[in-house]
Amino acid sequence: MNDQSLAGRKALVTGGARGIGAEIATTLAKAGASVMIGDILLDLARETAGGIAKLGVTAGATKLDVTDDNQWEQAVGATISTLGGFDILINNAGIEITSLVVDIKSEDVLRMCSVNVVGTALGMKHAVRAMRPGGAAGKGGAVVNISSVAATIAFPGIAVYSATKSAVDRLTRVAAMESGKLGYAVRVNCIYPGLVPTEMGNQLAQDVVTCGLFGSVEEAVGTVVSLTPQGRLGEVADVADAVVFLASDAARFITGAGLPVDGGMGM
Ligand SMILES: NC(=O)c1ccc[n+]([C@@H]2O[C@H](COP(=O)([O-])OP(=O)(O)OC[C@H]3O[C@@H](n4cnc5c(N)ncnc54)[C@H](O)[C@@H]3O)[C@@H](O)[C@H]2O)c1
Repeated sequence: MNDQSLAGRKALVTGGARGIGAEIATTLAKAGASVMIGDILLDLARETAGGIAKLGVTAGATKLDVTDDNQWEQAVGATISTLGGFDILINNAGIEITSLVVDIKSEDVLRMCSVNVVGTALGMKHAVRAMRPGGAAGKGGAVVNISSVAATIAFPGIAVYSATKSAVDRLTRVAAMESGKLGYAVRVNCIYPGLVPTEMGNQLAQDVVTCGLFGSVEEAVGTVVSLTPQGRLGEVADVADAVVFLASDAARFITGAGLPVDGGMGM
């Protein structure tokens, strides 16, 4: 069997209003899933969901700041009531604030920890509670967390971001271990994307120039490409296709894994 169809599945994608998350939501829908987008940018999330609904699946948007426990409770409730269930969570929302180690600001560290680490942890908490036997959805499922190639290499200017993405990697492994051992029937995996030219990716390329690490954006991007055996930047579709695989039954015996989607940059 090689079943990557997601027909009948119900997915919540955090940070799905734009960028990688929007492509993940669209690609899940193309594979047959109905999709809820949870984002702080509610208007844009509604617009993205409206585009997805034209594919012929149920799609909705809900306000979700992933750092807020109560909003998670509401977003999972809205997903179950709008889609009629909940069996896929994509913890995609994340932020990156570039800084040399010698210039780190505590408020930036806390903000990145809050969105990238607390947000991912709370997402797993609420998703697994809902998906496990006896939960509000109760049919098991799959969680895919979006880490980063930054968790697997040392790239200058992103020390704290890299640390938060390493934390996402560890959160993934322990959640997968608990879910298996406790019979929750929820697989938990993560993906390490390489640099993708979204708003975040483009901003990062500028910020490493601003903090003096590269002479120009072209030099910064050229360095990333030269460190990538496949010789190009990532595309949102590269990440989204890998998410569909990990969320689908084709990955039914895969849990606690981290999949690089980086053209070989982190090997
Ligand atoms: N772009 C890259 O090069 C790259 C590489 C590796 C990993 N990633 C990861 O992929 C994910 C998506 O990145 P992107 O490039 O699409 O970024 P992006 O900035 O283009 O989009 C991020 C989305 O997350 C939302 N968001 C931010 N904070 C939130 C919060 N507190 N609650 C809910 N939603 C929130 C934003 O509103 C936005 O819709 C992130 O986790 C990022 O760390 C990105």
